[in-house]
Amino acid sequence: MNQFTQYAPTEIIFGVGTEVKTGTEVRKWGGSRVFVVYGGGSVIRSGLMGRVEASLKDAELEYELCGGVQPNPRLAFAEEARKKAEAFGADFLLAVGGGSSIDTAKAVAHGLANPGVALWDIWTGKVPLEKSTPVAAILTIPAAGSEMSDSAVLTNEEAGIKSGISTPFNRCKFAIMNPDLPLTLPDYQLSCGICDIMMHTLDRYFIPKPKCDLTDEIAEGLLRTVIRNGKLALEDRSDDDAMGEIMWASSISHNGMTGLGRARDFSVHKFGHALSARYDVTHGASLAAVWGSWATFLYKDAPERFAQYARNVWGVKEEDDLRAARAGIQATVDYFRSIKLPVCLPDLNLGEITETDLDALAADATKNDTVKLTQIKPVGYAEALEIFRMANVPDEAHGAGYCEE
Ligand code: NZQ
Ligand code: ZN
Repeated sequence: MNQFTQYAPTEIIFGVGTEVKTGTEVRKWGGSRVFVVYGGGSVIRSGLMGRVEASLKDAELEYELCGGVQPNPRLAFAEEARKKAEAFGADFLLAVGGGSSIDTAKAVAHGLANPGVALWDIWTGKVPLEKSTPVAAILTIPAAGSEMSDSAVLTNEEAGIKSGISTPFNRCKFAIMNPDLPLTLPDYQLSCGICDIMMHTLDRYFIPKPKCDLTDEIAEGLLRTVIRNGKLALEDRSDDDAMGEIMWASSISHNGMTGLGRARDFSVHKFGHALSARYDVTHGASLAAVWGSWATFLYKDAPERFAQYARNVWGVKEEDDLRAARAGIQATVDYFRSIKLPVCLPDLNLGEITETDLDALAADATKNDTVKLTQIKPVGYAEALEIFRMANVPDEAHGAGYCEE
């Protein structure tokens, strides 16, 4: 096991109706003027925001609402929101929504504590982040794990870059997780969320060394839980037990627990972010569309690891590692298909993707070949291009077996 530090201090308040505790929680964590960030309006339509406002009023807190965050949240919007939060004199950020609202709230929190510093200078590391403002979340979609993670991801539209920062200042003070809230999600968003939760663990899991038994057991158990309950929640949207399992898994999958003792890599996410930056693809879909190609490209370099995944997560009985590895990849891709996720770039319906486009995507994913992705073997620009080319093959062309010998 490598050295590690685990610091995931977010207080989790889980259960039906827990949003009524919002006001007392904000007070407990020192807030008095609350800047409330939300998305395109689902939280207004569902009535959640009304309950949140009532709780803030009960606790005699001043607050201002700031709606309009888009999925794949934009840097420019965060800068505007930061100005409003400054004018209001906010001392606490509350996100009501999913990863996009939470990440925007985190950005505003950093901006508030660092007046005059451009957010992108913080994002690129030009200005080290040494202080921030407290932030908390009321989660409405299990997916990004931002409610417990140390990350925040923004898209800089002008630069055409989607990237994140990892810092302890990104940890929420508290997260309210009511499993009834995501019951209103469209199927597609729920499927994308399921994939993203799986990927936060898979992107930590496919780092073959060193041996970390407990980390593996947590990761494999989490994956089995999400796969099983993902299907249940999609089949019966009133099943808040299944939704609760997925919701809790979203936090555990990205709070560090499923990768302790190993390096941090997140290579599939680099491919996904390149796709989302250029084509505004929903995050979970961007990952599903490349994972099969990514895995097919790499499994022969780590057959034992892929075989362990196949046996312990999918129950594959095959004794030969290479055959087991292929069966695990096949099972994963079949699962994505079964929950109506794209499994290749043509499935994303982006129109024709030319060789020049693939080239640009590979350059973005590897920061112009300056970053090597994956701990399995170095994946630079040339290898990333090969993976994107494989992903650009229509699903029908794979025939019955996704990943042939
Ligand atoms: O905007 P509204 O109207 O609220 O609608 C949202 C949005 O359209 C809708 N939605 C959310 N909860 C709902 C609902 N609709 C009906 N009922 C509900 N209960 O779902 C759509 C997607 O929302 P979004 O916040 O974008 O979803 P998600 O949580 O998947 O966040 C995605 C963003 O998080 C980033 C992604 O890259 C992407 O930008 N990530 C953040 C991470 C982090 N901070 O740790 C890690 C992840 O890897 C990821 O990169
Ligand atoms: Zn993700």
